[in-house]
Amino acid sequence: MPQNILTRIQKIFNQHFGEPDYIVRSPGRINMIGEHTDYNLGFVLPAAIDKAIYMAIGKREDQEIHLVAADLEATYVTTIENIAYSHLEWPDYILGVVDQLLKAGYLVTGFNLVVAGDVPLGAGLSSSAAVECATCFALNTLFALGLDRKQMVQLSQKAENEFVGVQCGIMDQFASMFGKKEQVIKLDCRSIEYAYMPFDTSDIQIVLMDTGVKHSLASTEYNQRRIECEEGVRVIQKKYPTVVSLRDANSNMVNECLKTGDPIVYNRCTYIVEEIQRLQDACINLVQHDLPAFGKKMFATHDGLSRLYEVSCKEADELVAAVRNEQTVVGARMMGGGFGGCTINLVKKGRSEELIEKVSGIFYSRFSRPLKTYLVNIDDGTSLALLNNEQ
Ligand code: GLA
Repeated sequence: MPQNILTRIQKIFNQHFGEPDYIVRSPGRINMIGEHTDYNLGFVLPAAIDKAIYMAIGKREDQEIHLVAADLEATYVTTIENIAYSHLEWPDYILGVVDQLLKAGYLVTGFNLVVAGDVPLGAGLSSSAAVECATCFALNTLFALGLDRKQMVQLSQKAENEFVGVQCGIMDQFASMFGKKEQVIKLDCRSIEYAYMPFDTSDIQIVLMDTGVKHSLASTEYNQRRIECEEGVRVIQKKYPTVVSLRDANSNMVNECLKTGDPIVYNRCTYIVEEIQRLQDACINLVQHDLPAFGKKMFATHDGLSRLYEVSCKEADELVAAVRNEQTVVGARMMGGGFGGCTINLVKKGRSEELIEKVSGIFYSRFSRPLKTYLVNIDDGTSLALLNNEQ
């Protein structure tokens, strides 16, 4: 764990409030394959990474909530009785979780909290889900609420859906909470059953390339994609009443029921049913240690996201095009909700530096700005980082 962040967060907490009771770490996430499939009740294949949100928390004697965002040098104060949307963005991921806990009848009283981290913000690595999971884990520990990890995931997702207003699926919060070193999580988003699958990185470096595009349109467009998928289900259902989500559909049904209808709905649903199947096939590739076949599917996912689901952007398309024929790149695609964020690249070990240099050049000549990249490793999920009295 990065000691500098822990020391800093502890110091800031000391300056404002004295000694914290707990420090919690909750990581960002990557997703190997299975994009926009979670809210269609399909599968996803995410993992937690070694970039995380850290939260120091301490109980208060009153009903006040004092929040400090160390990286933003911002503070926010409210009370348990007055939880409301802040319009400042960062407090809302914390307040949303408090709101859900209170609505579910859990006893939460006043607390002090300092948040910091090294998950790049707005880069599509789910810093917001990490903040929600960290908050839920911290409050669960502080007030001995007795929630298990699945309950914390669902509550954090609900906070994002209802308080923040993004109709996200369950993937980001699940990955942050359940991540495990060197493993990806195959999550069935319908049953919420999951299995860890080894992801061997002895020959691979995971490289994220940041489009630098902050996805401001993302939440409206994201919610719109959900509506389009639901519309597809509604039409398919007329012929196949047992289909309640695109998880239950297949390409034949999509062709039969949607091909002559709205072309947008048809394209969206085509991508989703293909992607759900692609993930299943990709998992077989993983089990068989066939990384080249796995990587090819990542490129196919990118094409589907870009052309059929239309959630890519020109920067992400350019970044994927720039690596597609590179011998050192096993697979690459845009990752996460889209409209910006990062591409994920599986690069042969020891070759990332030269690749980054080459792609940075291409990116600069095309967009006149430097390319930011992050080398990440698969890491454990949400946990206590350091108990105050364990120093
Ligand atoms: C965002 C959402 C997730 C998921 C991805 C796309 O990250 O928060 O629930 O839908 O987009 O796969």
